[in-house]
Amino acid sequence: MAYEVKGVVARSKGAPVGVETVLVPDPGPGEAVVDVAACGVCHTDLHYREGGINDEYPFLLGHEAAGTVAAVGQGVTDVAVGDFVVLNWRAVCGQCRACRKGQLQYCFDTHNAAQQMTLADGTALSAALGIGAFAEKTLVHAGQCTKVDPQTPATAAGLLGCGVMAGVGAALNTGGVQRGESVAVFGCGGVGNAAIAGAALAGASTIVAVDVDDRKLAWAKAFGATHTVNSRSTDPVEAIRGHTGGFGVDVAIDAVGRPEVFEQAFYARDLAGRVVLVGVPTPEMRLTLPMIELFGRGGALKSSWYGDCLPSRDFPMLADLYRQGRFPLADFVTETIGLDDVEAAFAKMHRGEVLRSVVVFEK
Ligand SMILES: NC(=O)c1ccc[n+]([C@@H]2O[C@H](COP(=O)([O-])OP(=O)(O)OC[C@H]3O[C@@H](n4cnc5c(N)ncnc54)[C@H](O)[C@@H]3O)[C@@H](O)[C@H]2O)c1
Ligand SMILES: [Zn+2]
Ligand SMILES: [Zn+2]
Repeated sequence: MAYEVKGVVARSKGAPVGVETVLVPDPGPGEAVVDVAACGVCHTDLHYREGGINDEYPFLLGHEAAGTVAAVGQGVTDVAVGDFVVLNWRAVCGQCRACRKGQLQYCFDTHNAAQQMTLADGTALSAALGIGAFAEKTLVHAGQCTKVDPQTPATAAGLLGCGVMAGVGAALNTGGVQRGESVAVFGCGGVGNAAIAGAALAGASTIVAVDVDDRKLAWAKAFGATHTVNSRSTDPVEAIRGHTGGFGVDVAIDAVGRPEVFEQAFYARDLAGRVVLVGVPTPEMRLTLPMIELFGRGGALKSSWYGDCLPSRDFPMLADLYRQGRFPLADFVTETIGLDDVEAAFAKMHRGEVLRSVVVFEK
């Protein structure tokens, strides 16, 4: 028997989202139904509503969630009813060509639930990032459930499922930030500030935050930036060189995803430094760089998908560091809201007023 729950649905491009009745099937083989406790509002949910990801409407939004396993299907052994889990969008398959090379963090064929959730009239829903967690219950592949310490508050834990992991992983995993290195982070939203917190965790000695909004730069200081630059009024490349003995940083992280920002990141790094692109560009964007600079500066230009994370390794680690007071996970939660408030939260995100609004489900 399917569960009948409330969920946030985007019906068509640009139209305001609404709360609708959603039918969640019983879990089939390899699947799990999760009682969602909290789910953060991420920029990617808005991208879905705007048709920026694909046009497979209607979407069941929400993908940054924590909750409790309510039911499991046949053959599920890694998680059980009652487990506290964070949902991930990298359920490693173990079989694809990346997995077979031992590069599980790139898994090209991650698992989602085989069945679909539907509207009351039977219309199939596309779950955002294969999760769909702005709903009281959601259906996922069991591999999308990552157990973390149940002492971690759900509002904070859920953020490990997307934005925080993407930012921390861009610094730790993709950028490979080492103790004593210098780092610059462009764009200090949820993802960029998580990259700053990740660089601080790694022991970077200089962390320069760059944004066009002073509110975001104040947050960046709190997450560990040693210097801030408002790139609306100050040339960030010159400023970053000024903070690094004239040389530039070892690692420059673009958490915006625009050509002009990537170019700043490219020139703000020292010889043989790394540039990490974690912000997501749009299909029409183009980049033009003198090829001699690409050669002459050496180093590496890398993209970071989901912070090159392995959920089973990284989520529990960050939850533990949070509970030990060594990682400020809860500070990314600007406000908690109800299921009816997602559309308003998109507007606040757009105006730059929040790092994360988090939907909390009353039990
Ligand atoms: N690679 C991944 O796996 C992954 C995962 C999650 C999110 N993302 C992407 O990361 C990006 C950031 O996400 P977010 O949730 O932090 O968004 P956000 O909107 O909260 O933050 C973006 C920040 O960039 C700043 N900004 C805008 N233009 C700028 C400019 N020209 N120079 C400097 N700063 C500028 C804004 O003021 C804001 O603080 C998005 O593109 C998102 O889609 C990527
Ligand atoms: Zn794989
Ligand atoms: Zn997200």
